[in-house]
Amino acid sequence: MDNITGMLTVPATTIAIGGTAVAIFVALLFWYLRSSSRGQSNHLTPVPEVPGVPILGNLLQLKEKKPYMTFTKWAEIYGPIYSIKTGATSMVVVSSNEIAKEAFVTRFQSISTRNLSKALKVLTADKTMVAMSDYNDYHKTVKRHILTAVLGPNAQKKHRVHRDIMMENMSNQLHAFAKNSPEQEVDLRKIFQSELFGLAMRQTMGKDVESLYVEDLNRTLNRDEIFQVLVVDPMMGAIDVDWRDFFPYLRWVPNKKFENTIQQMYVRREAVMKALIKQHKDRIASGEKLNSYIDYLLSEAQTLTDLQLIMSLWEPIIESSDTTMVTTEWAMYELAKNPNIQDRLYRDIQRVCGSDKITEEHLPQLPYITAIFHETLRRHSPVPIIPLRHVHEDTVLGGYHVPRGTELAVNIYGCNMEKSVWENPEEWNPERFMKENETIDFQRTMAFGGGKRVCAGSLQAFLTSCIGIGRMVQEFEWELKDKTQENVNTIGLTTQMLRPLRAIIKPRN
Ligand code: HEM
Repeated sequence: MDNITGMLTVPATTIAIGGTAVAIFVALLFWYLRSSSRGQSNHLTPVPEVPGVPILGNLLQLKEKKPYMTFTKWAEIYGPIYSIKTGATSMVVVSSNEIAKEAFVTRFQSISTRNLSKALKVLTADKTMVAMSDYNDYHKTVKRHILTAVLGPNAQKKHRVHRDIMMENMSNQLHAFAKNSPEQEVDLRKIFQSELFGLAMRQTMGKDVESLYVEDLNRTLNRDEIFQVLVVDPMMGAIDVDWRDFFPYLRWVPNKKFENTIQQMYVRREAVMKALIKQHKDRIASGEKLNSYIDYLLSEAQTLTDLQLIMSLWEPIIESSDTTMVTTEWAMYELAKNPNIQDRLYRDIQRVCGSDKITEEHLPQLPYITAIFHETLRRHSPVPIIPLRHVHEDTVLGGYHVPRGTELAVNIYGCNMEKSVWENPEEWNPERFMKENETIDFQRTMAFGGGKRVCAGSLQAFLTSCIGIGRMVQEFEWELKDKTQENVNTIGLTTQMLRPLRAIIKPRN
């Protein structure tokens, strides 16, 4: 008691001096611990290397279009973490759940930046978006905005009406197709992707777009052309490879054709976004307010520059249209291929919904649909390799030393195929998620990444994909026309099916 009283009565200057001394001591201790842990990491074994050839490293072994599969094969030989050389760059590849979590969480502070390819540098306006920026104040601010106004749980509640419109439109189009072209194969991708784009436009701008006069291009674009400029072209551009990315010391060699193509994509996207923003600024000025991201940003984020505004609004448009479509298309392919599983889902929906249409309120009573969603994400991860992270200070992963300057590739496909974690990983079997007692953790499959950079759109993806699958199975019987339709995926930016799913749909009643 006396000691406490004594401490409380020491003069303020003593506290100040004592406080400074303690602060210096803590800082020194922290510095010592950090430098000694770096030293420790230096004494650790380097990551095992996959042998390559001089100059090119392992590039020639990666020239086929599915690097995640090659990475997974190498993991069987060299282990869950190994290093390769892509030209002049060293890259560490992780194909294990445990080490991926270590990278996402424990070592995040050392692996929180990105070194973008030339194409991505241009298309992301030098990291001016949540998904591609380094982990810094800008990232935190724009992530807060997108979660508050578009993707977080409360925002998703407000946008419920837009998802309901999407589901009605999708159902109407499928019914019209089944009526007008019975026995023909429906192209689900086209319908679902177009509706996802409509959803993104309603969430971002308050309404879907049919056509738009674009002043900078001096012409009116129809909806398909707008989709092409805002979504299709940038996605193709994002995976465009400039060979100079692999050999930074040859940066000075011109590659004009590549630069012009990417620049054109940038200019056209900027022109369309500017026209959309102008149209909606005029709407807001005329007094018409809508539940949209642009309305939110223009009133709550006035410090954003014009470019930051363009990129913030474009981000949910490009991110909405692809990954969710890929997941849903794969799920419908698997359900058409496995009639028993489709029947079980249909019976579950009948039991829970009766003659009502399935809605988001039914989802907690339909664990099988959630299991189908997660199993599809596991078996057909739309993002098979996490966008590369840059190791900006020496660190340790899986017990190995990983030096500063290394690129890190987390091979999600490999993690989701890990035999010690998943029984018969090649098999698509939703039952494996039915064994879990609690609600399924969204990070269980790694498909959404993890830690501080975990996907911000997982809730939207879950809701649109599950209700989409539910409505399609509730209203139609799905059958593959060609039972041997190959289960081969291709890598665009995501693992789209090589050939779009072609299924015969029969209305249930
Ligand atoms: C099945 C669908 C989806 C999958 C599999 C998926 C997967 C991912 C992955 C793997 C990441 C990277 C995490 C990292 O870099 O560590 C990511 C980030 C992100 N995703 Fe998704 N995504 C999906 C849907 C969506 C949707 C619909 C949106 C928005 C409309 C979205 C918005 C974002 C954003 C903003 C980030 C950046 C988060 C950050 O860096 O803090 N995603 N997503």
